[in-house]
Amino acid sequence: EKGGYEHFMLKEMYEQPKAILDTFSPRIKGNEVVIDELGMSDDEIRAVKKIMIVACGSAYHAGVTGKYIFEGLTRIPVEVDTASEFRYRDPIIEDGTLLIVISQSGETADSLAAIREAHAKGGKVLGIVNVVGSSIAREADNVMYTWAGPEIAVATTKAYSCQLIAEYLLAMKFAHVRGKISDAELADMIEDMKELPAQVEMLLNNKKNIQKFANRYLAAKDIFYIGRGIDYAIAMEGSLKMKEISYVHSDAYAAGELKHGTISLVEDGTLVTAILTQENLYKKMISNMEEVKTRGAFVMAVTNVDNTEVERNADYVMYIPKTNKYFTNTLAIIPLQLFGYYVAVGKGCDVDKPRNLAKSVTVE
Ligand code: M6R
Repeated sequence: EKGGYEHFMLKEMYEQPKAILDTFSPRIKGNEVVIDELGMSDDEIRAVKKIMIVACGSAYHAGVTGKYIFEGLTRIPVEVDTASEFRYRDPIIEDGTLLIVISQSGETADSLAAIREAHAKGGKVLGIVNVVGSSIAREADNVMYTWAGPEIAVATTKAYSCQLIAEYLLAMKFAHVRGKISDAELADMIEDMKELPAQVEMLLNNKKNIQKFANRYLAAKDIFYIGRGIDYAIAMEGSLKMKEISYVHSDAYAAGELKHGTISLVEDGTLVTAILTQENLYKKMISNMEEVKTRGAFVMAVTNVDNTEVERNADYVMYIPKTNKYFTNTLAIIPLQLFGYYVAVGKGCDVDKPRNLAKSVTVE
């Protein structure tokens, strides 16, 4: 059933190119994004005033990516909440608010409770869900399925990647309908999206190098992941992948926030993973990398293939191929998934069923 792979997690990582393709291809018709299941007319799309994204764990991280993408492309203000906190701020849901709930299992209790809260306040809910017919799929007003197929490993990989794709498609659709991107810009984004499966495949095929590198970090106590902008979102997901399966403590920080406290934990040999895929943020990221390096950190960088300048400030670099600036999370997460996986494998952890965790969390 693992199809020759050592773990479901590895199998599911390798299923990502197909899962990504299956999620976008039915929604791309020529140079248009068509999302019938959205259940919204163009006028309704134009009437959206605020988007609230609610989810847990990795789905929440997908939501954080979504915030940068929706705001960047559509200029609609976006709030992102962890579902377990959403209700406690008595959320303001008014006419023109669209609530998006993201969930692989469709059974997460807090995410379900968020839908009920939104409905009680007269809000409209769109679910981005993987499991067909699940509770969240049934209770949301409309559902956009991620076609990742069954995910068995507790640590999500392919479902998360498909959640990102669903958000890209939605943001592209909204931006186009609202006149924020031209036909030509949309066509370019579609072209870049079509490249993603092969690019993901190429990154997966670098697994041997990442395993070699991971084997040097089996005794690590702490790992920090830093990024700015959209790269901060991927730092959060990379960090969660590491800690949930390898039991190595890791944390993600907005890179500029590090010197407000956490940098005191950096000592000789501490691993800091810096993610820098956004050209306008290279300079600032490089100065953050210098800050930790001077304090003895070992710096691993994830960056675009043409940013070789980074090698002056990094001890190890994982390059990702060029894509649209809004799609980089899809590529940057692959080496980070592999890195977490191989640290866990090297330590002999139960990769598919990490201690204390369940695949779906049905209690609040
Ligand atoms: O089924 P859901 O997407 O609602 O689950 C949300 C989280 O429990 C889930 O993403 C969790 O954080 C994963 N184990 C992360 O790999």
